[in-house]
Amino acid sequence: QSNQFCDAGFGYPESTCGFSSSSSSKLLIKGGTVLNAHQQEVADVYVEDGIIVAVKPNIKVDEDVTLLDATGKYVMPGGIDPHTHLAMEFMGTETIDDFFSGQAAALAGGTTMHIDFVIPVNGSLVAGFEAYKKKAKKSCMNYGFHMAITKWDESISREMEIMVKEKGINSFKFFMAYKGSLMISDELLLQGLERCKSLGALAMVHAENGDAVFEGQKRMIELGITGPEGHALSRPPVLEGEATARAIRLAKFVNTPLYVVHVMSIDAMEEIARARKSGQKVIGEPVVSGLVLNDSGLWDPDFVTAAKQESSRTIIFSITFYQLYKYIEMLYSIHYRYVMSPPIRESGHDKALQAALSTGVLQLVGTDHCTFNSTQKAFGIDDFRKIPNGVNGIEERMHLVWDTMVESGQISVTDFVRITSTECARIFNIYPRKGAVLVGSDADIIIFNPNSSFEISASMHHSRTDTNVYDGRKGKGKVEVTIVGGRAVWQDDELKVVPGSGKYIEMPPFSYLFNGIDKADATYLSSLQAPVKRYFTAS
Ligand code: URP
Ligand code: ZN
Ligand code: ZN
Ligand code: ZN
Repeated sequence: QSNQFCDAGFGYPESTCGFSSSSSSKLLIKGGTVLNAHQQEVADVYVEDGIIVAVKPNIKVDEDVTLLDATGKYVMPGGIDPHTHLAMEFMGTETIDDFFSGQAAALAGGTTMHIDFVIPVNGSLVAGFEAYKKKAKKSCMNYGFHMAITKWDESISREMEIMVKEKGINSFKFFMAYKGSLMISDELLLQGLERCKSLGALAMVHAENGDAVFEGQKRMIELGITGPEGHALSRPPVLEGEATARAIRLAKFVNTPLYVVHVMSIDAMEEIARARKSGQKVIGEPVVSGLVLNDSGLWDPDFVTAAKQESSRTIIFSITFYQLYKYIEMLYSIHYRYVMSPPIRESGHDKALQAALSTGVLQLVGTDHCTFNSTQKAFGIDDFRKIPNGVNGIEERMHLVWDTMVESGQISVTDFVRITSTECARIFNIYPRKGAVLVGSDADIIIFNPNSSFEISASMHHSRTDTNVYDGRKGKGKVEVTIVGGRAVWQDDELKVVPGSGKYIEMPPFSYLFNGIDKADATYLSSLQAPVKRYFTAS
């Protein structure tokens, strides 16, 4: 597998670039099983100038058309990752993957579009948008933006309208955690929800109780727990459940749809399940790390021993040994690499989230790809609060979700398309241009071989980071070809990508989630009284 990619203008020789402007823009994918979220059929797919022109059996074409044989394989829409952080300034540093390296990794893993979070600059959304436009200049695939809201005043409210009406952004994220930096108050969240509703934009929340996390962190430090274990211990599932419940109730009060990002615990998932059962429009997004990992990676196997050794400083040898251990740990980011928020939970939450995904309680899978290398992670060597939060996943998502959900028999192959691509396109209002292999759709397509296999390793992956939280994982299924805009950019384990060739995808407001909101507004007050009525009817 090649770790080289064409990086014209970014330090790689032009000759490694197999992409040329003279390459055919006509493509025929022959003999595969075409997978959409709503059906599967054996058919050829014919593409011209980046658009799917025909999907039917036995398409005949001229000789100038590039042929790809997909016999025995699946042909499906490229993955869409709803949750990434490329070139993000965060916790005193910047993520190691930028819009080129992160996207190259994505393409090698069968993802053809991602939606990244713009962070405002000095509180200004317009300035934040401009900054991210610059960062994204080196893009080599499709991308869109969500916008974070970190403070509130009249100008933010006005800028939200500009984002929606002029910049193609239809979602805003509110952080209920990260006290002292990104965290917002309930008051701001309420104002934000109202504004989102009036603009037809989707409100998203990072749901953890930031004040309680702050307390939890102080407690850990007082107890002398400074390692990454303290990260998990300081922000337990109950704080994720609380914030999820609060956001859901406030969204109900405002009567606007809500999207809960990185659902990591049973506690949060059950709140979403309850709300959806009552008819409320709440979307739950688990991320790959929450679905397939557990917190064992966060703990030193000899955590207790290590802590004891540190306190009994009379045993010189032990101290030396402990320091050596800490040094090795820092070099290889053994535990730090797993630090993200909300934390990766103890075993059991993973399986419950998988079950929720298979039954539709949760609707789509993201990654929260937010990579820091070992050196950056080591900022927190003496204090877990300083470990930059985030894990990789943009390259691994499709393979791990296939292996964990489809190979295990929990979902069907068409469900796979829904949770990795189609539902994301619907929620962010770009379906069926994206998220489908249909006549008229953009030709962002992957050829997936269910009989091949994948293996993940930090030395072979395409991300710039030097560790991988999925290092050593193997499984069935492999993305053999990734096609973006009608061109194969990943084939024979090689990337052929050009920085600057990526497309910004504008996303219009008022997705299907807003259907019927007006009608619900009319009966709004009485719907909030429903529990009272139920109580009196029952007695
Ligand atoms: O640890 C995480 N999740 N880092 C990225 C920022 C966020 O909260 O999504
Ligand atoms: Zn978050
Ligand atoms: Zn450790
Ligand atoms: Zn995130």
